[in-house]
Amino acid sequence: MPINFDKETKRWLLETENMGYVFGLDDQGKIKNLYWGSKLPRVQDYPEVKDLILMDRYTWNDEFSVRGEKNNVEHCLKVEYCDGVRDVVLNYKSFEVSGNDLVIRLSDDHYNLSVNLFYKVIEKYDIIERWVEIENNSNQEIKIEDMKSVSLYVENDEKAKLNYLTGMWGSEFHLRREEINEGSKVLESRVGKTSAYLNPFFAIDYSADEDHGKVYFGELAWSGNWKIVVQKRIYERIAIIGGINDWDFSYILEPSEKLTAPKFVFGFSDEGFTKASQNIHHYQLDYILPKDKAHILRKVLYNSWEATTFNVNEENQKILAEKAAKIGVELFVIDDGWFGKRNDDHAGLGDWYVNKEKFPNGLQPLISYVKSLGMDFGIWVEPEMVNPDSELYRKHPDWVISFPNRPKSLERNQLMLNLAREDVKKFIVDFMDNLLTQNDIDFVKWDMNRHVFESGWMQVEPRKQREIWVKYVWNLYEILKYLREKHPQVTFENCSSGGGRVDIGLMQYSDQVWTSDNTDPFDRLEIQEGFSYAYAPKIMMGWVTDWGGKDTYPLAYRFHSSMMGSLGIGADLNKFSEKDFDLARHQVQLYKEIRQIVQEGYQFRLSSVINERYFAVEYLSKNKDEGVLIYLRNPRRFGLFDRVDVKLKGLENDAVYTVYEGLQGEEKEIIKLSGKALKERGIIIEDSSKDFFETGKATHFYSRILRFRKRD
Ligand code: DGJ
Repeated sequence: MPINFDKETKRWLLETENMGYVFGLDDQGKIKNLYWGSKLPRVQDYPEVKDLILMDRYTWNDEFSVRGEKNNVEHCLKVEYCDGVRDVVLNYKSFEVSGNDLVIRLSDDHYNLSVNLFYKVIEKYDIIERWVEIENNSNQEIKIEDMKSVSLYVENDEKAKLNYLTGMWGSEFHLRREEINEGSKVLESRVGKTSAYLNPFFAIDYSADEDHGKVYFGELAWSGNWKIVVQKRIYERIAIIGGINDWDFSYILEPSEKLTAPKFVFGFSDEGFTKASQNIHHYQLDYILPKDKAHILRKVLYNSWEATTFNVNEENQKILAEKAAKIGVELFVIDDGWFGKRNDDHAGLGDWYVNKEKFPNGLQPLISYVKSLGMDFGIWVEPEMVNPDSELYRKHPDWVISFPNRPKSLERNQLMLNLAREDVKKFIVDFMDNLLTQNDIDFVKWDMNRHVFESGWMQVEPRKQREIWVKYVWNLYEILKYLREKHPQVTFENCSSGGGRVDIGLMQYSDQVWTSDNTDPFDRLEIQEGFSYAYAPKIMMGWVTDWGGKDTYPLAYRFHSSMMGSLGIGADLNKFSEKDFDLARHQVQLYKEIRQIVQEGYQFRLSSVINERYFAVEYLSKNKDEGVLIYLRNPRRFGLFDRVDVKLKGLENDAVYTVYEGLQGEEKEIIKLSGKALKERGIIIEDSSKDFFETGKATHFYSRILRFRKRD
């Protein structure tokens, strides 16, 4: 049983395969968190409420921290009742267990505000999902000023380190690891989307490495403003409070209205970061991604953006499509520029009709051509945006997010439609529905290229205007949910100037993400390494492009860098030589042969590109019988090294594995070794900087893909 209630000690015990999470009821009727960590052998081994020393001056361990009840730490819930009272007093009412689900019912009785804490225990992945529902059962409005999803607590130890992901446009998902000191560390977004600056993910470890040590982690299912606060006070457990950002937020909860704080997913590994990441990856595939496509392999796509930018037309797209088909691409995607008066980024956003100068007979001739080449067809849209130079803006200037008497800041020459409005939501649903009904489209790249600044919603009463932040996101989710149900054949890719809106909230409605506009194959390695801590490789789209210099990076290096997740190609195929086509065809075929393992298997980071002279990532099939090693040199760690021993992981000690290279049917065997030898001694990769002396170039780029399989 994953959830147990011990009547005598009044404790709820939530257990997964390797994790225990315990909270209990104290004699004041308050729910206190007691334990989160390794699963302990016996129920008695877990702390009881009476073990919790509760001194009068603090209440640090609230399972759901509220403003009130002498609690001065970061809160999950802050309200203002109609008489001006701002303290919340929650009393325990009841609980209910059904299989892996638990609900704890609490209530602020005097004001008839009920708070339900929901838990879902995912045993196999050592993960718990937690979300919160609040309901106004009174006949007066209640102003909600904060409604976060969790307050969690981990051991306070001087070894504790906080890991998080930071970046900016073109440089997303950089992993940071730092000491946790007294005070608060705030990770957040205030720009109306997840943002590239910080990602709603944290991990806390205690000198852990990839294979050893305790790692606590969590991530939030929300695509708007969010906040995770890590708070440390001397001698107390470290608190992590996370959910929707309370900055500029308030919500008028009407009588009988319910509000749901999004899912916060948290988990634990006592076998280091690899196990934590693998559990996150497989949890996302099984529980987050839309079910219909979660375990279907992602197709190799070609996106023509970097080849033709806004200058798309039927003719040039057909030429590229033919070339893409030649190398084995399965999905051809036309990006920005096909609609309205969209000849550059100054005009056209919002006018979602086909540009007749570029496509005189609509999109269908191109679509039919793409299909005749045996590929699926995909299209780019940016539904949440409008250019001031557009028919839509001239007709509905009031649809944009803005304040009167204040500037309307442009970013990339565009303004943002207020999706919190029902008429805007209907506009988007209708045009997308028409587009997908009238054309044989299999794939949509849904882009979003700016931040929210002047966050005004002047058409509603001032006291409701701050609801824009959440209503926007709810409507975005509803639109996507509707479109997916109505057009189940369509795969959705989520993009926001690259990886600006990557979170498990939007992943519930999209099948993959555009990781970063930066497709420089070396820069990408650090981005991809950081990404792997919080998100599954299958979700991560990587394109082979000309970034960083077509002549700087060998084409194979560019492919190998992009093959660490779901593969795409964005290079200008018109510039490919016959040799390039041959190589690309070979690499695409190789990817098709290994993608089941890359997209659905277990990923092991064998080295870190941040610190080491090479980046090697291993992928092991679900049954652990075969695997792939992708090796890329870090050209910035120059050294005259001749061989690198890359040690594999996750293999059976006594089994014998054949290590080989190449496509099926033309395999070149490299060595046969036991699993133990491959783990201890490793595969020797001949890699040297000798060519420095031959070519005089300070860096060079070497990469290999090796495969291995267990011998019967
Ligand atoms: C930003 C995206 O990240 C790019 O891939 C491309 O789709 C452009 N937008 C198009 O405007």
